[in-house]
Amino acid sequence: SLISELYKRRPRPEYIPGHIPDPDYVRIFDTTLRDGEQSPGATLTSSEKLEIARNLAKLGVDIIEAGFPIASPDDFNAVKQIADIVGNEVYEDGYVPVIAGLSRANEKDIARAWDAVKGAIRPRIHTFIATSDIHMTRKLNKTPDEVIEIAVKAVTYARSLGCTDIEFSPEDAGRSNPEFLYRILGKVIEAGATTLNIPDTTGWNMPWEFGNLIRLLRENVPGSDKVVFSTHCQNDLGLATANSLAGALNGARQLECTINGIGERAGNASLEEVVMSLALKGNEQFKESTNPGSGKLYTAINPVYITPTSKMVAEYTGMKCQPHKAIVGANAFQHESGIHQDGMIKDKSTYEIMTPESIGLMRGDSQSGAGIVLGKHSGRNAVGTRLRELGYDLDVDKLNAVFARFKEVAEKKKGGLDDDDLESLVSDQAGYVN
Ligand code: KIV
Repeated sequence: SLISELYKRRPRPEYIPGHIPDPDYVRIFDTTLRDGEQSPGATLTSSEKLEIARNLAKLGVDIIEAGFPIASPDDFNAVKQIADIVGNEVYEDGYVPVIAGLSRANEKDIARAWDAVKGAIRPRIHTFIATSDIHMTRKLNKTPDEVIEIAVKAVTYARSLGCTDIEFSPEDAGRSNPEFLYRILGKVIEAGATTLNIPDTTGWNMPWEFGNLIRLLRENVPGSDKVVFSTHCQNDLGLATANSLAGALNGARQLECTINGIGERAGNASLEEVVMSLALKGNEQFKESTNPGSGKLYTAINPVYITPTSKMVAEYTGMKCQPHKAIVGANAFQHESGIHQDGMIKDKSTYEIMTPESIGLMRGDSQSGAGIVLGKHSGRNAVGTRLRELGYDLDVDKLNAVFARFKEVAEKKKGGLDDDDLESLVSDQAGYVN
């Protein structure tokens, strides 16, 4: 497909902590196994986590955040197993994914995270501390200067363990004072942080505010040219994908997301939405005076693995997607109204901006959810076409009679009519012999 052609032409640049050799390349950091697992009730076993991690690697994710190792012995073991196995396997384009473990900004957490990830070829420690006034005063009970000291000590300690790939997150950055962020982020860069992840922890920002924040940080944090800026957007106002893209427009080159958008509360930016937005619109659409490259952004994600990975995550976490979920919802490639079905029969691009096949969904497979649903809004053309596919070449009068009956039945039948229903309608028409 057009999309896989695009990926073939643009190979993933070499992985270097804190630097991306091509300024148009956007790293995808998947946190399904950490923030995603923080969705209420979404607990995963170690073997489920390992299987999902393998799929994430096949999908082409650059960095897999495998868990929060201090949280429990199970989480430690799961992260360690993923680091030891997936973090040592070479995937499709010759890439070995980075395996990250989360830790609060203290030595005990960091040592535990390092023990869990250090078996990977590319281990990363991700450490964080809150920087908004509300979090520093009400949650941490610390002054801004104390918070800077803790952050610097944490990054220095991670470095002293031998870790050269260190991500620092100022939690609740979306509600933090930018001047304070300039100070603390400048200090953690000096201490050795290589990725600065900017979380909109409460999903509070509008896309233009979040984009502006990324721009301000790139312009004002001392040493900002030595690190990669990252976004981590929660979805409390349904803006996580838009905010992540606004971050990319302003120079963020790592986007954190989860499969199906799962995560704390209303969830995170959804990987499939972010990646398909960049695949379809990244070319030329991201030209901005503050964007470092040509504006033709791309990722290394191979979208044909989106559907299988989405289904696996839904199955193992027990968190089914709503039917109208963008890209992976059961209705995302379904067409019910007569006008839409007529358009689809004539040319699929009348109502689809990407093909289901490009995201690994087979058209016409009713289990997979791609295709035309024959329901009360459907038109004669769609019903006639399906009947012809089933072998019923009706003349105009018979088709009219079947269609009139179809409309009566479809009025009452939720979920549409299937092929058996259609065949019964045909055989109800007196005298018809196939
Ligand atoms: O939402 C958040 O702030 C986080 C950080 C730890 C990145 O999950």
